[in-house]
Amino acid sequence: MKILCNPKPHANVRCTVEAPTATTPADYIRAALVTGASGFIGRHLIRALLQQGRQVLALCRNRDSLRDLQHPLLRIARADLAESHSYLPYLNCETTVFHLAAVRSLPGTCPQEMHRVNDTATVELGRHAAKAKVVKFVYVSSAYIFGPSDGDCRSEKDGYCRAPTLYNAYIQCRVQALTQLKKLAEDRLNLVTVCPTIVFGPDHPSHPNRVTHYLRWLLRSRVEFVVEGGEQRRNLVYVGDVVRGILLAEKFKAAGEDFILAGTDVSPRVLNRMAMTLAGCSLRFSVSLPGSLALALAKLADTVRGYDRTAGYAAAVKVLTQEWRFSFKKSNSVLGYTPTSFSEAILKTLRFIQATGTSHGEISDSTVECND
Ligand SMILES: NC(=O)c1ccc[n+]([C@@H]2O[C@H](COP(=O)([O-])OP(=O)(O)OC[C@H]3O[C@@H](n4cnc5c(N)ncnc54)[C@H](OP(=O)(O)O)[C@@H]3O)[C@@H](O)[C@H]2O)c1
Repeated sequence: MKILCNPKPHANVRCTVEAPTATTPADYIRAALVTGASGFIGRHLIRALLQQGRQVLALCRNRDSLRDLQHPLLRIARADLAESHSYLPYLNCETTVFHLAAVRSLPGTCPQEMHRVNDTATVELGRHAAKAKVVKFVYVSSAYIFGPSDGDCRSEKDGYCRAPTLYNAYIQCRVQALTQLKKLAEDRLNLVTVCPTIVFGPDHPSHPNRVTHYLRWLLRSRVEFVVEGGEQRRNLVYVGDVVRGILLAEKFKAAGEDFILAGTDVSPRVLNRMAMTLAGCSLRFSVSLPGSLALALAKLADTVRGYDRTAGYAAAVKVLTQEWRFSFKKSNSVLGYTPTSFSEAILKTLRFIQATGTSHGEISDSTVECND
C-alpha cells in the first residue's frame, strides 16, 4: 500500500491516501475516532490508521481543514470538545478513541481556555467514552507532566510535576485531567495515556510545528538565539515515532497506564549545529541571553501584553531554562517502542523543509556524529 502525499503543502495541492489492498491483522480492524484530527500529530495518525485499513472518523472544528485528505475509509465530522452533543453520536463499543485535541501552550493563550478544553472537556469526553464502553481510550497528554529533570532524566515512576514555580497553566490542567481520567479507569474506562516529549517533523501550514518552524527560520536566517548558552537539554521526538507509540499503546491490555514517548535529549546549541551541518550551511552569528535578563524581558512583555503569568512569556522562559530529559525505558520494554535515530529524524525534517521550498541550504545524504 502506498500513501501519495504532495510534499508541498504550501502549493495547495490535494493529498490523496490510497485504499489499502492487503488484508489487515484482526487487531487493527477496529474503527478509530480521532479528536484533534486537523492538528500536527492528528494528520500523521490518520494516515497511519488508514494504512492499517481501519475506518477512521476524524473529528475537527472546521471540516475544511482536512479537505486535502481523501480516502474511502475516512469520514470527517465537525465536533467541538466543549460541546458534548457534537461528538456523543460517534462514541460506541466498537471504536477506539484517540484523544489528541488540546489547547497548546503558547505564550498568550488564555489559561481559562486551556482548563476548559484540556481539563474539563477532556474529562467529560472520558466520562462519555466510559459510558459508551469504547474499546480503548488512548489519551495523548504530554511528558511535561512529569516535570523537569533534576539530575537524572524523568520517567513514569517519578510521578507528576509538583514544582510550584514551574507549575504553569498547561502542566497544571494536564495533570488535573489525567488524575480524573485515572479515576474513571479504576471504574470502567479502558484508558492508556501516552506522553510525548517535544514532537517535530513534517507539518502542514494550517498547524505548523514549533520545532520544524524554528528549523525553517534557522536555515533562512542562520542566526542562533539561545538562553544561558543554550546548554539545557530537552527531549525531542520524531512525529513518526509518536504515531507508532500511540498505536503500540492502543494494544496494551491493562487500563490506567502512562507511557512516555521520548526521543533524544539534546541542547538547543547541539540541535542548531546539527541542523546547520546537515543542511550544509553555517551560522552567521550566535546570541546568548543570560537567563535573568531573558526572564526580566519576558515579564515586561507579559505586562505590556496583559498575559497571565502562568501562560505567558515568563512561564515559557522558566521552561526554557530547565533541563527536560526523559526516559523511554518503560515504553521500550513494555510496548516495544524504539525511536528513530535523531540525526535521521532531523535529516527527514530538513528534506521536507527543502521540498516545501522554505530552506536555502543544500541538504546532503551525509549524517553528522550525534549522541542518539
Ligand atoms: N506537538 C508537540 O510537541 C506535542 C508534545 C507533547 C504533547 N502533545 C500533545 O499532542 C496532542 C496533539 O498535538 P499537536 O501538536 O497535534 O497539536 P496542534 O497541532 O495544536 O493540534 C491541536 C488540535 O486540537 C484541536 N482543538 C483545540 N481545541 C479544540 C476544541 N475545543 N474542540 C475540538 N478540537 C480542538 C485543534 O483543532 P483546530 O484545527 O480547530 O484548531 C487541533 O486539531 C495535544 O494534546 C498536545 O498537547 C504535542
